[in-house]
Amino acid sequence: MSKAELKINDQTIELPVVVGSENEHALDISKLRGQTGYVTLDYGLKNTAVTRSSITYLEGENGILQYRGYPIEQLAEKASFLEVAYLIIYGELPDKNKLDEFTTGVTNHTLIHENMKKFYEGFPQHAHPMGVLASMVCALSAFYPDILETDGEDESLNLHVQRLIAKSATIAAWAYKNSVGHPAMYPQNRLDYSANFLYMMFAKPTEEYEISDTMVDALNKLLILHADHEQNCSTSTVRVVGSSRASLYTSVSAGIMALWGPLHGGANQAVLEMLQRIYDDGGASKQNIDKWIGRFKDKNSGQRLMGFGHRVYRNYDPRATILKKSADAVFDELKVNDPLLDIARELEHHALNDSYFVDRKLYPNVDYYSGLLYRAMEIPTDMFTVMFALGRMPGWIANWIEMTREGQPITRPRQIYTGETRRDYIPLEKR
Ligand code: ACO
Repeated sequence: MSKAELKINDQTIELPVVVGSENEHALDISKLRGQTGYVTLDYGLKNTAVTRSSITYLEGENGILQYRGYPIEQLAEKASFLEVAYLIIYGELPDKNKLDEFTTGVTNHTLIHENMKKFYEGFPQHAHPMGVLASMVCALSAFYPDILETDGEDESLNLHVQRLIAKSATIAAWAYKNSVGHPAMYPQNRLDYSANFLYMMFAKPTEEYEISDTMVDALNKLLILHADHEQNCSTSTVRVVGSSRASLYTSVSAGIMALWGPLHGGANQAVLEMLQRIYDDGGASKQNIDKWIGRFKDKNSGQRLMGFGHRVYRNYDPRATILKKSADAVFDELKVNDPLLDIARELEHHALNDSYFVDRKLYPNVDYYSGLLYRAMEIPTDMFTVMFALGRMPGWIANWIEMTREGQPITRPRQIYTGETRRDYIPLEKR
């Protein structure tokens, strides 16, 4: 079917049907207002494709996630984060030369301008690292002003892409260092992206820091799993802001701000807070777990099993399956003895065998284990969303480039006005 018909009062109009490469169907309503005077109303745009995109394919019913056609399972198993970043941004897996060139480019831009380093003295010590990251990514446009002239086709764009990926890791690690009053650790070019990030976070000038391969591998996977997720809130924000031809740095900074909201990037923190409440209430005993599972099933309790369910995935979140395996490796290597982990395992076991959760297709999502994993890696809770932002960077960049190259018009949605109809001004003394 290539057309659909819409009947409004006595008028029948034809709506073109757009078919995606994985056979998803959409009705093109871009001429609807001109033809009929009607607009569509879709709160949260949950039923609206806002763009065509060739970056990420996501199919919630069957738990499919593919970057540029490659299944997330294969990428998480076999690729490095920078390799996946290249794939997402440039559309193809790099050959060895291209990957070396890209990796060297990113590695050579991990230093941030010494004047930017002084910004940390201005932020309060307990500034939330997401606020610091968003502000400093935005400030990159002041240090590299030629970005304002750079569009999706400009050759210098590659340099800005490498800068953004490289410097955001340094900015993020130094935000943490600043929060604990430790000296910033300068990046080490001999290390790969994930190892370098762990080094900047945890090394101290006073002692040797041994980087664990298991931790590097886990971080690499975490970043890959978060690298893109099609038109989510922060990515849409990047596109909306970028549609005004705002620069890459400022658009991505806006995306970071959107991610900061608890409904978007805060779910793994909410999981840990829930586990802590259960721990304080009696821990992983059968009686306590049964009580809490009962609460999660009771609509009047106002409590949900955090980290279960997903707006898009109606099956296992494929990222959760990969992460659970990786998390178990880290828990084993570090001999993690975390009562919250015991509670998480018990809850998962109960929920997966309870018809309430099974019938509603509520499975663990990527956040169920990511918070516990970060906690085991000693990454503090405030940094969880920052880690998400570092992972999502390639997706934001790719979407900004795609949108800019395609010359997407400025985003300007409509509304249905529900306020007062016309009325005359009443002078102040008569009100
Ligand atoms: N615990 C208990 N019940 C749940 C849960 C949960 N985690 N999630 C959904 N339900 C129930 C609902 O009460 C509803 O039951 P009903 O049909 O009897 O009324 C049914 O399952 C469907 O729930 P909806 O809210 O309609 O599902 P939706 O797909 O809109 O919500 C959401 C998805 C918001 C993620 C939800 O599952 C939830 O709140 N989960 C917990 C929070 C969470 O983990 N969020 C992170 C998502 S992942 C991410 O953002 C990266």
